[in-house]
Amino acid sequence: MPSRVLAIDGPAGSGKSTTAAAVAEQLDLPHVESGALYRAITLAGLDAGVELGGQRLVALARSLPIRLDLTDAGFRPEIAGVDVSQEIRSARVTARVSEVSAMAEVREWVNEEVREAVARHPRGAVLDGRDIGTVVFPDAVLKIFLVADPVIRARRRLLQDGRVPDPDAVASEVEALERRDAYDSTREVAPLRRASDAVVLDTTDLSFEQQVRVIVDRARNLFP
Ligand code: CDP
Repeated sequence: MPSRVLAIDGPAGSGKSTTAAAVAEQLDLPHVESGALYRAITLAGLDAGVELGGQRLVALARSLPIRLDLTDAGFRPEIAGVDVSQEIRSARVTARVSEVSAMAEVREWVNEEVREAVARHPRGAVLDGRDIGTVVFPDAVLKIFLVADPVIRARRRLLQDGRVPDPDAVASEVEALERRDAYDSTREVAPLRRASDAVVLDTTDLSFEQQVRVIVDRARNLFP
């Protein structure tokens, strides 16, 4: 395992992905978003039938294939060579992704892909997800567990999606985020939880720049 592996985990809408991307850029490391693979296999499954079950979904993912291409500008999720960065964020994928990611075979496939992607980058990587610090890279040199008030998370997610955060929209987004958190936290395989050695970072009152700086500073202290 490369020495500079940073794990950023946390619940839905806690800003893991945008934070991990900025941290990776500042540390000049690649960013690997495990959620993009769970989303891509869900997208492929929506067309083929999510009910296929883990084993057949993984066979489908290998044959298409689904890949995470790490480029200088970040990572690009691909299905059969086509960039699906936008499509994996669609509401229809978000609505089914927790169900697919609860399947043990799917999790094994994602973990394998993620570890292979990192192995190709000996300098290290910044990873984000739900179980990076607990299961995928339990020996990561720095583990961050991002948390934030659900209303703040909902507002940020709406703004990120270009929607107006009026009270009704915020209320329904809070409900959707909490439903996904409950599903992700109570599944049998690799549930969402903080690693005992993770640093909890509550970003409710932090600006984006501040939260990035806290993580980058900690990382630089560990490997100047
Ligand atoms: O939408 P958000 O950024 O919060 O989540 P994501 O990172 O895109 O992940 C989407 C879904 O994939 C989560 O709700 C989890 O069900 C699943 N996931 C997981 O189980 N384990 C990971 N390491 C990453 C994502």
